[in-house]
Amino acid sequence: MEILHVTAECYPVAKAGGLGDVAGALPKYQNKIGHIAKLVMPMYRTKFLYQNDFDVVHKGDFSMGPYWFNYTIIKEQTNKLGFELYLVDINGLLDREEVYGYDDDSERFTAFQIAVVDWVARWQDKPDIVHVHDHHTGLIPFMMQQCYAYRHLSHIPTVLTIHNAQYQGWMDWDKANYFPAWDMLEWGKLDWQDRINPLASAVKCATRVTTVSYSYLDEMRSNANGLENLFEYERGKCTGILNGIDDIVWNPDTDTYIDDTFNTKNAALGKLANKKLLCEAFNLEVERPLFVFIGRLVHEKAADLLPQAIYDAVYHLEGKMSFLILGSGDPHVEWELANMNMPLAGYYNSKIGYNEKLSHQMYAAADFLLMPSRVEPCGLNQMYAMRYGTIPIVRNTGGLRDTVTDIGEHGGYGIIFNDAKVWDITYSINRALELYAQPKRMKAIRTKIMNLDNSWGNSAQQYINLYSSLQ
Ligand code: ADP
Ligand code: GLC
Repeated sequence: MEILHVTAECYPVAKAGGLGDVAGALPKYQNKIGHIAKLVMPMYRTKFLYQNDFDVVHKGDFSMGPYWFNYTIIKEQTNKLGFELYLVDINGLLDREEVYGYDDDSERFTAFQIAVVDWVARWQDKPDIVHVHDHHTGLIPFMMQQCYAYRHLSHIPTVLTIHNAQYQGWMDWDKANYFPAWDMLEWGKLDWQDRINPLASAVKCATRVTTVSYSYLDEMRSNANGLENLFEYERGKCTGILNGIDDIVWNPDTDTYIDDTFNTKNAALGKLANKKLLCEAFNLEVERPLFVFIGRLVHEKAADLLPQAIYDAVYHLEGKMSFLILGSGDPHVEWELANMNMPLAGYYNSKIGYNEKLSHQMYAAADFLLMPSRVEPCGLNQMYAMRYGTIPIVRNTGGLRDTVTDIGEHGGYGIIFNDAKVWDITYSINRALELYAQPKRMKAIRTKIMNLDNSWGNSAQQYINLYSSLQ
């Protein structure tokens, strides 16, 4: 089967979070099991672009409201990611250093989607499935059905995967003229509460909708940033397929980002060697258990609770642990976390920013990973942490609930708490300290989590089964 993935991110081309990881892995694993999965994304101005060679495969143009754009599709020459990678170049619009965060993101991603549909419309052999990811590509199912120039694509089944329903790409109706001539009687397929809502549109128009864990699928019917009723109404076409992890990129035995590689047999020594280096670099005591947090510093991740939780843990639990935080996001949370470096020196440190290498070093060195997320559609960090022998401390939500079992349960290997509250976090840290004081139990859990199979094999096949049911 031939599948075209359309996405805003893909590791290692450009990544802002877990979507990038998933898009960089899923097509690779689908190719491994005998299918042809290709991926198209915007051409940003990233390192990957300059370090690799590309061929021009198509040039075209289109109008978008008052604007006229030329676009070029380029293809990476060697399929080094394990699949055919295509980039859409729209001069001045997409070729920026960051993936998101510009005032004209609506124009950027709408133009990207028009270019993709315009290009696919010219393929001689059309793909069997168009698989779009999140709201940045959510207008594609609508355009394939309702734009007159592209209606010959309407027979191709489309699958939308929702990685995060909090972001929906809202646009005001004055931008309705951005889409290539379309059937205006069908305006309801774009609309949600009087605005154009690309995520809602994709839920309405895609042939099938998936989300990245079973629990998140349930939760969306009561918590989806205004789309709850839509998910309730469309429940028949929605399925949960849990993300996997790329066990080639995330392998402590071969990881080139970490100084001392290790596997289940020498994990204790290997992790300790990495911990020593990290603690030295961040002025932390290697003897104490190390708790880390890696992620976007936003409300969803409950990053705002970390400062108080860490202060309380250091003062009330008598500084029996160390913390290291890596993240960026809300400027106020960044400021708070950075300002704790001095007063809690020796017990706490933080690095504000995005740093892929440091994230790998932290998964390798830490004893525990904190993930107090208010919302977590799947979460990859907890699965990376486990592969590197780091015990996850997570809130009982979404994909965290589906991938971690509490140590209080038979065969459990993580620490789970119910409420996104400071008290629940400090209570869980205390449970972790009790566990840390039992080296034999720590070792058994470490071995268990490193051996868990969270790889893509199974989930990649589940997507294939879903596509097959649509042929
Ligand atoms: P989300 O996509 O919601 O941010 P996930 O857990 O699915 O959450 O994935 C987050 C990904 O981004 C992981 O690969 C994590 O290691 C990475 N990441 C997040 N913040 C940073 C950061 N500041 N530096 C390096 N990697 C980060
Ligand atoms: C989103 C979610 C995260 C998920 C990731 C990949 O960014 O917030 O929970 O793991 O997408 O699907």
